[in-house]
Amino acid sequence: MIASIYKPVLSLRISVTDRCQLRCRYCMPAAGVPFCGHDEIISFEEIKDFVAQLQVAYDVRKVRLTGGDPLARKGIVELVAMLSELGIPDLALTTNAQRLASMAAPLKAAGLDRVNISLDALEPGTFERITRSDSVDATVAGIDAALEADLRPVKLNMVVMQGINEHEVRDVLTFALKRGCELRFLELMPIGYGAELFEEHFVPTKTVHRMLTPAFELTSYPRTAGSSAQRYAVRATDGVEGVAGFISPCSDQFCSDCSRLRLTASGRLMGCLAREEGHDIRPMLQGESSDSLLTTVRQALGCKRSGVHFKQSVSMAAIGG
Ligand code: 5AD
Ligand code: SF4
Repeated sequence: MIASIYKPVLSLRISVTDRCQLRCRYCMPAAGVPFCGHDEIISFEEIKDFVAQLQVAYDVRKVRLTGGDPLARKGIVELVAMLSELGIPDLALTTNAQRLASMAAPLKAAGLDRVNISLDALEPGTFERITRSDSVDATVAGIDAALEADLRPVKLNMVVMQGINEHEVRDVLTFALKRGCELRFLELMPIGYGAELFEEHFVPTKTVHRMLTPAFELTSYPRTAGSSAQRYAVRATDGVEGVAGFISPCSDQFCSDCSRLRLTASGRLMGCLAREEGHDIRPMLQGESSDSLLTTVRQALGCKRSGVHFKQSVSMAAIGG
């Protein structure tokens, strides 16, 4: 009998592009950012090789494709099919859903399991104030297409900001519950362009809780190890039920059991969003032995410590949300 080998669990977030159709104020300036050139961007082969090499030494439970908007990367359906061949238990993608209406079914067919969708507002005016685009209808159509294509559970992300969209927390939650989506309320992070909004607009999780009661009854689930969200069973006064989560990177850090590793669109490996600059791993994917990649991965994972100080000056679109 072959003894089973213990492999540490790893969850990968891979940014496939820094481009995006939207210009969310906490992420990009109105004019966008200098995007990475075609020769700088990591290729599909390199991404697949990266994941396959990590599978040798780690139990890669989850791969999440991020951006920018991953659907803005040409050939994304093909990449999903390539990664699906590696047999990852949970293959997910985070998107603004602007292009999802026509892509949900092909993505599902290529092997994608599920999607997380950014939805900071439902009112067109609020949506435009945040994203600088009057396209909330496209996002809603994308959410419905994801449900239709069974990319479930469909999770929605709402970054709550004082004086901008805080008045919509109950409406967005009702919208999510009615569709059977899990809404996650995110604290604004003082990272990239979020730093400029932070002082004036940050809302701590406990304030969002207060805004939801008494219209909603929240009963907490036990915390799942490695999960960034504290999840609650939710019951609205009109009887609609579902699940909501709170992600509190500022008021309740979850670093101690984090098993996440990020790869940026230009091939930099990052163990922690809040800490280092990242290591360029592309040379290691182009022929060198897998040893140096695994050593770099161990170093990146070694930088996980509690007590996060957000000091990144780059945009979330480059690192991947
Ligand atoms: N603070 C909080 N959330 C952010 N996101 C991007 N930038 C920030 C920030 N500065 C969110 C997006 C998306 C998720 C992947 O990350 O809204 O939902
Ligand atoms: Fe695009 Fe997401 Fe950044 Fe908004 S937060 S501009 S949707 S990458």
